[in-house]
Amino acid sequence: MSTEKFLEVSGLKKYFDVGRSTLFSSQSRSLHAVDGVDFTLRHSEVIALVGESGCGKSTLALLLMGLEDPTEGTVMYEGRDITHLGDHQRKDLRRKIQMVFQDPYESLNPTQTIEEIVTEPLAVHGLTHERDERVKKAMEDAGLKPAEVYLKRYPHELSGGQRQRVVIAAALVLEPEIILADEPVSMLDVSIRAEIINLLAELRITRQIAVIFITHDLGSVGFFADRVAVMYLGRIVEIGTMLEVLEKPQHPYTKALISVIPVPNPRLRRERIILQGETPNPIDIPTGCRFHPRCPVAFATCNASDPPMVTLSKTHQAACLLLVK
Ligand SMILES: Nc1ncnc2c1ncn2[C@@H]1O[C@H](COP(=O)(O)OP(=O)(O)OP(=O)(O)O)[C@@H](O)[C@H]1O
Ligand SMILES: [Mg+2]
Repeated sequence: MSTEKFLEVSGLKKYFDVGRSTLFSSQSRSLHAVDGVDFTLRHSEVIALVGESGCGKSTLALLLMGLEDPTEGTVMYEGRDITHLGDHQRKDLRRKIQMVFQDPYESLNPTQTIEEIVTEPLAVHGLTHERDERVKKAMEDAGLKPAEVYLKRYPHELSGGQRQRVVIAAALVLEPEIILADEPVSMLDVSIRAEIINLLAELRITRQIAVIFITHDLGSVGFFADRVAVMYLGRIVEIGTMLEVLEKPQHPYTKALISVIPVPNPRLRRERIILQGETPNPIDIPTGCRFHPRCPVAFATCNASDPPMVTLSKTHQAACLLLVK
């Protein structure tokens, strides 16, 4: 793995204006979906982005894709600021960063054949050279082998797993450098989830593609990710190598997430940490540490100071006041 930073995200924020709280209030409210995210992604690295529903994972992905404009912060790609690009430059960049969504049923046009679906991105980008070869290679690299068997079929003739492979083929055909996979397996049968994860793991080796793998299920990250970033209410609260985060979690939120991952061997079972209360509304972020109202180890000052990211090793950081020396 190269250490070169090729995607660098700093201070990224996305606030949505969600209107007034009551008919009589004059102030409009703002929902802090992404609230100050920093991280870097290296060439052919896999980062798992984990957190509960509503913590801002998809919004962060849309910001990275340029499908949402950030309120603040920057995204640098290969040393170039891509935060605010015009349509033309954005289109060029879209080839490099592709997204795979959760639902392979919704992301495929049911009236198009698989050939049309996988060819379309090439047409959109005006890439006519060796079109058929590229389509065939993308399909076969996505595990649809031999491609000829699938070309004339329609999405409804395929299984959920095969459909997700078509979505991945349509991303691969543009030869991307990064795939943003937003819950790519959560709609699939448990039995085929591992196949799709294995496929993404293979692609980072065969095609040197970096992957941001978004999931609300820390247990599904498995062996596949190099690093794990844990998100809570719009922020990354812990980031580290997979071993650091899974074996030596430091943030109380990460500890709670890990404690509920099912373990097959009952002797290795950990004590489950059940968090109190619901995830707060991102319109109303708690003061101080945003996790303090649900934190089992919160102390007096946690509602007053926002914890900084504390460096625990060269690769491991977490934002908790208990870690501040
Ligand atoms: N266009 C929008 N306008 C207003 N609020 C939005 C918009 N998009 C997202 N949000 C809000 O931003 C917050 C983060 O949403 P987001 O979809 O990024 O979360 P997520 O982590 O992807 O959740 P899930 O695991 O359910 O997919 C949520 O409170 C959501 O309701
Ligand atoms: Mg989402």
